[in-house]
Amino acid sequence: MPLVGRPPSDWRDRVPRTPPWDGVLLCRPDHFDVVDVKNAFMAGQVGRIDRVRALDQWEALAATYRRVGVAVHVLDGADGLEDMVFCANPVCVLPREGGGADVVASRMNHASRRREVPHVVRWFETHGLPATSLGDDVGTIEGHGDVLVVPGRRLALGGHGGRTTRGALEALAEATGVTLVPLALVGEPFYHLDTCLAVLDEDTVLVHPPAFRGDALDVLRALFPRVLVADPAEAREHLAVNAHGLADGHVVLPAQAVRTAETLAAAGLRPLPVDVSEFHRSGGSVFCMRLDLPTRPA
Ligand code: ARG
Repeated sequence: MPLVGRPPSDWRDRVPRTPPWDGVLLCRPDHFDVVDVKNAFMAGQVGRIDRVRALDQWEALAATYRRVGVAVHVLDGADGLEDMVFCANPVCVLPREGGGADVVASRMNHASRRREVPHVVRWFETHGLPATSLGDDVGTIEGHGDVLVVPGRRLALGGHGGRTTRGALEALAEATGVTLVPLALVGEPFYHLDTCLAVLDEDTVLVHPPAFRGDALDVLRALFPRVLVADPAEAREHLAVNAHGLADGHVVLPAQAVRTAETLAAAGLRPLPVDVSEFHRSGGSVFCMRLDLPTRPA
């Protein structure tokens, strides 16, 4: 059974290595909007999106990645799919030892978000990575909103109690053979694991402790020697933890997370702030706006 609770402290000797990521996928925000309230960040934001500003910010995000040598692949948005810009959610991409990845279609909670899934699945199919699906009876799972891959390892952390069910995490581990560590979440406003945890490298995580339940924090401390704590107000108000660690130590994070960036810099990491505040109105920031891509299978 690949799903494990508290992983053994020698997991580094046991969990296979995977090749580094090979670029990111971003989805154009031409159809981005807030039309309903799917999470607490969206309250009071219906109809308030400035699309011109959103596009400018999205282009600056893409430029930031290119500037530090990360290849950017672009997926077009679709009419009526207001959240599709958060393209990390409709699929789960779990890299394999020899390159390539298991791509697993999500089972989204909201009807409009369910319609995003075939678009993202098609992109992967076209790029030689056909997706599989989990059964109807497993519950819901929202891709990398709740499943965070440990960079360079065939290991993932899975949040449940927000948008993803524990049953779906079990089914994902079963279907792919990936070692998956379940972490219990309190839920709103930290409705996805990526709002309260960022796995920056195989030794370092950034966390917002109040969002976790049960033994989740102990499990994180047992797994990672460096547990950095985000500024609590920045985590709550500016999605500070929705940050993306790159292989060279850069961490792309929301520009408003000033104190959190200082913590990262003090730990020897290289913060790369970007202003995607228009997307914060929808409850998403850097991490859920990009999807890490695997190398081609050998
Ligand atoms: N409005 C989107 C939703 O509620 C935002 C998703 C952001 N994704 C994330 N992983 N935090 O589904």
